[in-house]
Amino acid sequence: MKILVTGGAGFIGSNVVDAYLDAGHEVAVVDNLSSGKKENLNPRAKFYQMDIADSRLSDVFADFKPRLVNHHAAQISVPLSVDDPLADAHTNVVGFLNLLTNCRQHKVEKVVYVSSGGVVYGEPKQFPASETFPLQPASPYGIAKYAGELYLKFFAAQCGIKYVALRYSNVYGPRQIPHGEAGVVSIFIQALLAFKAPTIFGDGKCVRDYVFVGDVVEANLKAVEKGENVALNIGTGRPTDVNELYQLVCEALHIELKALAGPPRRGDLRANYLDASLAGEVLGWRPQVNLAEGIGITAQYFKQLAEKK
Ligand SMILES: NC(=O)c1ccc[n+]([C@@H]2O[C@H](COP(=O)([O-])OP(=O)(O)OC[C@H]3O[C@@H](n4cnc5c(N)ncnc54)[C@H](O)[C@@H]3O)[C@@H](O)[C@H]2O)c1
Repeated sequence: MKILVTGGAGFIGSNVVDAYLDAGHEVAVVDNLSSGKKENLNPRAKFYQMDIADSRLSDVFADFKPRLVNHHAAQISVPLSVDDPLADAHTNVVGFLNLLTNCRQHKVEKVVYVSSGGVVYGEPKQFPASETFPLQPASPYGIAKYAGELYLKFFAAQCGIKYVALRYSNVYGPRQIPHGEAGVVSIFIQALLAFKAPTIFGDGKCVRDYVFVGDVVEANLKAVEKGENVALNIGTGRPTDVNELYQLVCEALHIELKALAGPPRRGDLRANYLDASLAGEVLGWRPQVNLAEGIGITAQYFKQLAEKK
C-alpha cells in the first residue's frame, strides 16, 4: 500500500518507516527536519523536505498519491507549548488540518494519527488510565493532540476518512532524542556513557509507563489493516518510577554512579500509566518487550553510536 509518513525522519516515525518498507509497503516521508535527522531517513522511501503547514503539501499528495497517511510530525515539547502556544498550534493544529484537508481532496482512505496518552487525560484520578476516562489536557500540546482527535472524528463523519488514533505512553528506544516525552531514558544513557551523573528531580517517585519503540511500531503496522474510527492507548500498563528507571539504565551499562538530586520540576505529573487492553481487542496488539530488555537494546544502540564518533 502507498503510505505517506509525516515526521518520518524523527525517532518514532523513522522506525515506523523502516517497518512499513520491510512489510512491503511503498513509503514516502514528509519532514521539515526541525528535529528529525537525515541519517534516520530510509533511502528506500521517497523524501519530501517540507513543513506540514506548507501550502505546497498538495503537490506531495498529487505526486505520491497515498492511500494511507501515518502522522508522526509534531512539535513535541510540552514546555515549549506552554511558552509559545501559537508555535505549537501552527504545527500541531494548523499543520495537521492542512494534512487532513489534503487527505480529503486526494481521497486518502485512512489516517493513523499519533496522540498522547501521557497528556490527553491530564492528571487521572485512577490508574491505569483507560480510553473511557475524561479528556482534560493541561497543556497547549495536550489540547492540540486532543483537537486532532476531534478533527479526525469530523472528517470521518463528513467524508468517510477512516482513522485510528494511537495514544502513546512514554516511548523509548533507538534513535530517541532527549526532548520528547520519554526523553529521560536517552538523557540517562548518554550522561552515563560520558561518565557524568545525571540529575533526578524531586524524590524520583514520579511514575510513567515506558513502552519500547519496537512495540509501538508493531501497533502502527497493525493499524494499517485493523481499527476503524477509534482511539487506543498504546502502553504497557506497568508503572515505573524514575529511581527504578535509573537503576535499570545503570545495570544495562554496568556503570554505578549516584545520580545528582535536583528540585522538583514545576508541572510534572506525579503519575501516569495506561490501560492498553482495548488495543489488544481492536488491533490484537500487546507489548512484547519488557523494560529491562528494551533499555538493554537502547543502551547498546547509544554505546555503538558513541563508539563511532
Ligand atoms: N516520544 C514519546 O514518548 C511520545 C509520546 C507520545 C506521543 N508522541 C508523539 O509521537 C510523534 C513522534 O515523536 P518523536 O518522539 O518521534 O519526536 P521527533 O521530534 O523525533 O519526531 C518528530 C518529527 O516531526 C518532524 N516535524 C516537526 N514539525 C514538523 C513540521 N511542522 N513539518 C514537518 N515535519 C515536522 C521533525 O523534524 C521530526 O522528524 C509526535 O507526534 C509526538 O507528539 C511521542
